[in-house]
Formats: sequence, structure tokens, C-alpha cells
Amino acid sequence: MKPMKRGDQVWQTGEVVRRYLEGVRGGIPLAAEQFEIVLRLVRAARPMVGRFLDLGCGDGALGRVLAAAYPAAEGVLLDFSEPMLEAAREALAVGGRHRFVRADYGDRGWVDAVRDGAPFDVVVSGYSIHHQPDARKREIYGEILGLLEPGGLFLNLEHVASRSGWGEAVYDEYFTDSLYAHHVRQGGVKSRSEIAEAYVHRADKEANILAPVEDQCAWLRELGYERVDCFFKTFELALFGGCRGG
Ligand SMILES: C[S@@+](CC[C@H](N)C(=O)[O-])C[C@H]1O[C@@H](n2cnc3c(N)ncnc32)[C@H](O)[C@@H]1O
Repeated sequence: MKPMKRGDQVWQTGEVVRRYLEGVRGGIPLAAEQFEIVLRLVRAARPMVGRFLDLGCGDGALGRVLAAAYPAAEGVLLDFSEPMLEAAREALAVGGRHRFVRADYGDRGWVDAVRDGAPFDVVVSGYSIHHQPDARKREIYGEILGLLEPGGLFLNLEHVASRSGWGEAVYDEYFTDSLYAHHVRQGGVKSRSEIAEAYVHRADKEANILAPVEDQCAWLRELGYERVDCFFKTFELALFGGCRGG
């Protein structure tokens, strides 16, 4: 029997990467506000950031925010998609301070691939870990805790589950409106229904394994994280996390 292809591996194809970076990332609603809240939390937890990790970095959307705010910091940007890492290298090509690591965090071995950059003041992850089954998400949160400095902060900016089909439908409309507005801003000529169609049938949708943010915050507390909270949420977009005890 042919081994089953994991859904998340669509991220290793140039076409899915291009569609996300050109058509979706800039259309995520309230992205600037999300980055601002990330920075506020980082500032409050760690006055100095020497080392950070961006897990499932894509083109380094979150890592770039940290690199700009903390120019002396050394970043580790990890992804299992070569086209994404290529985009991250291009976007962060400054002074060779950052390290780009190709690894699959679905496999516990990823920790060894970043250990020489640890312990980290901050670990961020953006819209990525939701591709893992819930049991593995929880393990990854534990592995991240082990890589943090005492007092260090983990923030997951994540696609989380709605509590009802009704909430999910409202979110889908909201997200599609935002993608369409992004498309129009870029000078695109597709109709809203074409954008909606492409969103519903996107190749990476199958790879989503969404979990409610309340459950994920509970896992963090059980694992020993402190100051755990959901710091931002609009429909299925949430920023949550916590600190390692000092
Ligand atoms: C939706 S993109 C988000 C990229 C970026 N963090 C952002 O905020 O725009 C999801 C990213 O997670 C990466 N990813 C998904 N599963 C992964 C895994 N098991 N190991 C490493 N990277 C993974 C994908 O390659 C992709 O770059």
C-alpha cells in the first residue's frame, strides 16, 4: 500500500507557497494589530531579546517583526518548506545574524536542530501548528517550554476552531471579505465570488486540524506555562501563549 501523504506537505509546493505569500498573508484581517500586540507582550516579558525562534516561519512574517524591534537579536527561523525558507532568507538578509533551519516539527527531532540557538527569550509561531493533531500540538508546546529561558515567552498567533458552525460561517465571510479587499488593493480583477471559491477550495485547507483556543490555553497551563492567556481573538484568529517560570 502506498504511504498516505500528510496533508501539511502541500506547504512544500511552490504553488501553495506563492498563493499564500501573494494572495493570503497580506489579506489576514488585523495583521498589523496582531504584530503590535506581539511586540507589546514581548516588551513586557523581556526588556532585552537576545535570541528568538520563529517556528513554521514561512517568509518570516513574525520573525521580521522581532528582528526589526531587536536589531541585535539572533533569530532562528524554522520551516519544513524550502520555498518558504528561501523567501525568509531573502526577506531577512541582514548581516548573517539569523539562522534558517529546515526541519519538521511534527517529528520530535526538530528540537535538536535548534538546540544550539537555545535558550530563547521568545518563541513565536504564526498560523502553523494547527496542522498537527491535538496530541502532537500539546507535545510541541512542551518542547517549546524546554527551549525557553526562565521568564521567556511563547506566543502562538493561530488559526483556532470556532465553537459552532454558525461562528465558523461568520468567520469565513469575514476572512473572504478581507482577502477580496487585499486582492483589490493589489489591482486584481477577480470577483468576490471567485476569491471565495478559491478560498473554499484552497489546497492547504485539508491540512487544518483546528482546536479551540480555550483548550490550547488549558494545555499550556497543564504543561507549566505561567501568565497563560488568549491576548487577542477575532473569530478564528487568536494570539495566545504564556511564559516559562522565572
Ligand atoms: C500558513 S503558513 C504561516 C507562515 C508564517 N508563520 C506566517 O505567519 O505567515 C504555515 C507555515 O508553517 C509551515 N509548516 C507547516 N507544518 C510544518 C511542520 N510540520 N514543520 C515545519 N514547518 C511547518 C509551512 O511550511 C508554512 O510555511
